[in-house]
Amino acid sequence: MFVWMVDLEEDIRSLQLDSAEDINGVVNPEDEKPDVDKMDEDPKQEVQAQSVEAEPKAKVKEILSVQDEEDEQMKKRHLNVVFIGHVDAGKSTTGGQILFLSGQVDDRTIQKYEKEAKDKSRESWYMAYIMDTNEEERVKGKTVEVGRAHFETDTTRFTILDAPGHKSYVPNMISGASQADIGVLVISARKGEFETGYERGGQTREHVQLAKTLGVTKLLVVVNKMDDPTVNWSKERYDEIESKMIPFLKQSGYNVKKDVSFLPISGLMGLNIKTRLDKSLCSWWDGPCLFESLDSIEVPMGDPKSPFRMPIIDKFKDMGTVVMGKVESGTIRDGDSLLIMPNKDHVKVVAIYIDENRVTLAGPGENLRVRLSGVEEEDILSGFVLSSAANPISTVTEFVAQLQILELLDNAIFTAGYKAVLHVHSVVEECEIVELLQQIDPKTRKPIKKKVLFVKNGAIVLCRVQVNNVICVEKFSDFPQLGRFTLRTEGKTVAVGKITAL
Ligand code: GTP
Ligand code: MG
Repeated sequence: MFVWMVDLEEDIRSLQLDSAEDINGVVNPEDEKPDVDKMDEDPKQEVQAQSVEAEPKAKVKEILSVQDEEDEQMKKRHLNVVFIGHVDAGKSTTGGQILFLSGQVDDRTIQKYEKEAKDKSRESWYMAYIMDTNEEERVKGKTVEVGRAHFETDTTRFTILDAPGHKSYVPNMISGASQADIGVLVISARKGEFETGYERGGQTREHVQLAKTLGVTKLLVVVNKMDDPTVNWSKERYDEIESKMIPFLKQSGYNVKKDVSFLPISGLMGLNIKTRLDKSLCSWWDGPCLFESLDSIEVPMGDPKSPFRMPIIDKFKDMGTVVMGKVESGTIRDGDSLLIMPNKDHVKVVAIYIDENRVTLAGPGENLRVRLSGVEEEDILSGFVLSSAANPISTVTEFVAQLQILELLDNAIFTAGYKAVLHVHSVVEECEIVELLQQIDPKTRKPIKKKVLFVKNGAIVLCRVQVNNVICVEKFSDFPQLGRFTLRTEGKTVAVGKITAL
């Protein structure tokens, strides 16, 4: 059993290392360094919070001039950070604390949340209430929807995506992670909690594997609850967690030296988040605080000159039709004529918003709200893609993919006729495996000649996948973010894959 597990994790690693190389081949991270000379001189941190559940009709800030606005946009890079990890690790608390420490949430609001949390017998949850905005989340103390908020440091505008940790909400976590560039993996150091999260079936493992598959290239592992009485800033506990996580992160495809860093924090107390730790509290930690770590992460970005693609995650009516999503490639400008795929609806860009600000153009990595003319809100579904008209995204009902089988339910066999739910960018769609084409030897990465009729856990197999409705996807080699996917059955991730032919 153990040997098999190691093998499986090796396989995942090899599949995912491939993907990492593919992406890095396209963009040179050196080119993406923010231009330090042009940075704002004012070192003050700014924050803007916004909840995705709240009405997204934010105030539109008047623009002094188009030129100023463009300069402003070019100055700071934008990164999407997804908070992942096991249920109750402290993701929402840490996210809330970031907003509080950045001055976005005032003391009175915190006092109000303290009272509300107390009334619900959830005293310690008040910080999480900043991110957990709906009643169900506050009563149960569990995030359901991916919370969204914004804050800024000297070099970067961040969008925080606060994913739910509970296993019932993994599909929401997938949608959050698929929009993210970097991940903050929150781990509870409290006695017993790290262990539960790390066990097979715990969400620490599942989230890491999903994040890697979904294109989260860099991970910041925050060892949280260091203030807890069972931990008390113990170096031994921190080292124990780090030493257990490192081999697992490697197996999941992360280059631990280049792409991962660790740091101790207390989300609840707000320690080692905006400012470095006091030596009197924790003598052994010399490293950076969370803000510094986030600031220094470099990620390759999509190509602003390639054809425009923005998968739509949500839409609403507000003086026309407004769609929300993250730009995966290309640039969008006011007045552009674009297509909404797969329906080929011709639309015109009336206005573009980043956070609350109206802008005239936006490039890869930006989360946008785009007001369109020429289409009704009812005619758009999430999973549709706002796309260049000259070079629109491919539409298919069938594709060929290289699949890595992770864990089938009850050790079922995987064969033609297998049905699952396909998650690819913002698309969620039932699919069926119609043909297994070729098995690939996980060790040598070479095709196995013998005809393949079924495979089991751990196999890598090339197969044809069919969906009932037309979907918008691309080959992984052309647009990695639009060509990688997961297959889930009855709430469990059974396979990860990349599209090799359309
Ligand atoms: P889900 O959204 O359900 O996955 O949980 P989460 O990871 O968002 O955890 P949440 O922030 O809701 O916190 C869960 C519990 O852990 C709450 O009772 C928090 O007060 C507590 N907690 C979070 N961070 C810390 C910390 O730094 N120290 C201590 N002592 N408790 C913490
Ligand atoms: Mg939460």
